[in-house]
Amino acid sequence: MRVIAIDGPAGSGKSTVARALAARIGLDYLDTGAMYRSVAFAALRRGIDPDDTVLVARLAEQVAIEVSDTVTVDGVDATIEIRGPEVTRAVSAVAANPGVRRELRRRQREWADGHGGGVIEGRDIGSVVFPEADLKVYLTASDSERAGRRSKEVLDMDYDTVAADIARRDYADSSRTAAPLVVATGAVTVDTTGLSIEEVVDRVLALLPENTAEGNR
Ligand code: DC
Repeated sequence: MRVIAIDGPAGSGKSTVARALAARIGLDYLDTGAMYRSVAFAALRRGIDPDDTVLVARLAEQVAIEVSDTVTVDGVDATIEIRGPEVTRAVSAVAANPGVRRELRRRQREWADGHGGGVIEGRDIGSVVFPEADLKVYLTASDSERAGRRSKEVLDMDYDTVAADIARRDYADSSRTAAPLVVATGAVTVDTTGLSIEEVVDRVLALLPENTAEGNR
């Protein structure tokens, strides 16, 4: 089993880079942020308060989530809605819930077992979920570049709103007690500011054990 862990803050280019990298090296790709978003979506749909840790943890254990090119939650196509402002607002509380993290961590490991590994993207993949990953990458970019990228994706929010939202989520993701966003031990940091997707993918490819001097020894 071969696992490439890609972590980093919102707007660092993780999803685009992880997807392109997976295609290049013939591994499957998993967006774990979509799993946290799916639990938040399910809570909102069932009228469960995202801050109710007991109910949301129980929900995480019961809900059916399928993440591929589309995202299905309890049989409902949630691909578009999980990226919307309501879910984005609710997801930080869900991601801070240790019971939810325990369950999604279990599902992520099970997914990797069933797919012969993969390129797995999130916040705690190299630090907690796959500390033994074959390669750990921490992607970053300047605050303004990250906000600029996200505001192109999120058409219903202007730049300032997106920048404020990213700053709020960065703070929530980094300051929570349960698996906060950190640079994992052994991770290589790649600053993607000013780089194209292809340039970032090439840099990450060059870090793969078989492409480094260490890997060739
Ligand atoms: O990458 P994203 O914006 O879709 O992630 C959604 C939220 O889920 C974000 O607030 C961070 C959180 N998350 C997490 O805590 N751990 C992960 N492995 C992936 C995402």
